[in-house]
Amino acid sequence: MSPEPANGPGTGIPRHLAVIMDGNGRWAERRRRPRMIGHRAGARAVNVCIDFCLERGIQALTLFAFSSENWGRPEDEVGALMKLFMNALEREVEELDRRGVRVRFIGERTRFSEAIRQRMDEAEAVTAGNDRLHLSIAASYGGRWDIAQAARALAEDVAAGRLSPDAIDEHALHARTCLAELPPPDLFIRTGGDLRISNFLLWQLAYTELWFTEALWPELDTATLQSALDDYARRQRRFGLTGAQVAAPRTETSA
Ligand code: IPE
Ligand code: IPE
Ligand code: MG
Repeated sequence: MSPEPANGPGTGIPRHLAVIMDGNGRWAERRRRPRMIGHRAGARAVNVCIDFCLERGIQALTLFAFSSENWGRPEDEVGALMKLFMNALEREVEELDRRGVRVRFIGERTRFSEAIRQRMDEAEAVTAGNDRLHLSIAASYGGRWDIAQAARALAEDVAAGRLSPDAIDEHALHARTCLAELPPPDLFIRTGGDLRISNFLLWQLAYTELWFTEALWPELDTATLQSALDDYARRQRRFGLTGAQVAAPRTETSA
């Protein structure tokens, strides 16, 4: 992404939006349909969200599609989700590429089948040159896994003599976490009404503004996303400073 952001803190538009897409199962259950119908309806909402980001000039979108813990769901649900994932990869990549979306996957990729891994690699390769929207799909992803794999990468560098233990600091660990090349999420949205992080981006969300809605993921519409943005624009992000410092940074810090 460009170093000089058009969006970001102070502009009212987040540069990076992170979303927990929750509530597919309940959406289907309320209609007395199998949970899988909810997941299918959820795939449509993904497009609503991507379109919204493209229209509003949000430069990065990270979607939580499947968590490390979701592998523990009933076998038939996991199997059906994998099929849906595979179909979506086959169906959507061309259009995403056409619209200038760069697609990447974060998570423990080795847990997926060879066929899915191949599709993921292809989607990343085909869209690698795009810069309009950086779309990261968190699949087989857990925030704890992310931090642990970054710690392992640090240990490997130390063991290989490439890094001194004294050089290990927040910056060094951050550089080895997923999404390190993007600005951290400015705004987090979770649908489905539950007020928790569920092992999403634990490291990256340190100073992210959190926003929750009762709306279930398949119900997602532009108006809901717009209310999240409106709310975000009204907030004062202080990053540990005082409100006065943030309101008049130069006067406060140079005094
Ligand atoms: C989110 O919807 C999608 C995945 C976790 C794959 P859920 O399937 O968790 O839906 P609810 O929370 O049971 O309604
Ligand atoms: C979080 O939803 C994971 C995804 C949306 C992919 P879950 O439905 O798995 O979260 P919990 O278990 O209710 O916290
Ligand atoms: Mg859920």
